[in-house]
Amino acid sequence: MDLVITNVSKQYKGNIWGLREFSLSIGPGVVGLLGPNGAGKSTLMRILATIARPTGGTVTWDGTDIARAPDGLRSVLGYLPQDFGVYPNLTPLEFLEYLAAAKGLDAPTARKRIDELLQLVNLFEARHQRLGGFSGGMRQRVGIAQALLNDPRLLIVDEPTAGLDPEERVRFRNLLSDLSGERIVILSTHIVSDVEAVATDIAIIVRGRLVRHAAPEDLLRAVQGQVWEWLIPSSEVPAARTRFRVSATIRKNDGVLVRVLAASAPGPAASPVEPSLEDAYLQAVAAPGDAES
Ligand SMILES: Nc1ncnc2c1ncn2[C@@H]1O[C@H](COP(=O)(O)OP(=O)(O)OP(=O)(O)O)[C@@H](O)[C@H]1O
Ligand SMILES: [Mg+2]
Repeated sequence: MDLVITNVSKQYKGNIWGLREFSLSIGPGVVGLLGPNGAGKSTLMRILATIARPTGGTVTWDGTDIARAPDGLRSVLGYLPQDFGVYPNLTPLEFLEYLAAAKGLDAPTARKRIDELLQLVNLFEARHQRLGGFSGGMRQRVGIAQALLNDPRLLIVDEPTAGLDPEERVRFRNLLSDLSGERIVILSTHIVSDVEAVATDIAIIVRGRLVRHAAPEDLLRAVQGQVWEWLIPSSEVPAARTRFRVSATIRKNDGVLVRVLAASAPGPAASPVEPSLEDAYLQAVAAPGDAES
């Protein structure tokens, strides 16, 4: 089971590049695809889900080019698009039955699977209510359930935690870690903490290009010794932001604790601290050369 992305580019009208020479090999596990808004995450996911075609490059699933022969991948694919929409007049049960039929699942198998999935995403009680009255988080859970209908080998979820409240986020993370195993899960987000606990691999995409691909531990190791904290008066925070690459500011009784990324001590008061994945991400995303002290 492998997904190999080789030199994939996507050019939109108006000379906009969604992806540029993007290469990545993925095996079983959870890949967190992290990148800022407009980085190309959804573009990549649409190509992997065979909804869009690349301008250049190839993607193979177990050795088969998915642009030439998409059926093998489609039969094992679960996909939650970023702009997932539901039919407001259907109930979750009806909606999932409809999609299961569209995916070619036979009715008894579908019925059993849908009941399990409704339990899994905590919508069993609400299964006869109309989707039109659902909150954003409830709709998102319907979206996750539909992506799992065919017990996919390749699960692609695009910003699945958008609109979820903190409790739902935690539930979603647990759901993902239960799901991993003999499948590939690709999850895009710009929220590091969404993937921190579950991702076996992190891929960071910036302006259509892959800038890092490593295990979370290795990303952390790469910024070891480059994260510093010290206390400053709150009036000095704006100046600190222009001078340093500030990854966080924490308000204290006697001032503001600034957290800064820098190759060497940014000042006599700065003490080195343990890096977080958020620090590693910010380091990778920052344009090379800017604000380096
Ligand atoms: N259909 C389209 N037509 C033209 N440009 C597009 C289209 N879709 C995406 N783009 C552009 O391609 C780039 C990548 O967009 P994409 O939606 O893949 O980014 P993203 O990482 O998913 O962003 P977000 O975090 O906001 O969802 C952006 O510059 C975007 O404006
Ligand atoms: Mg997107």
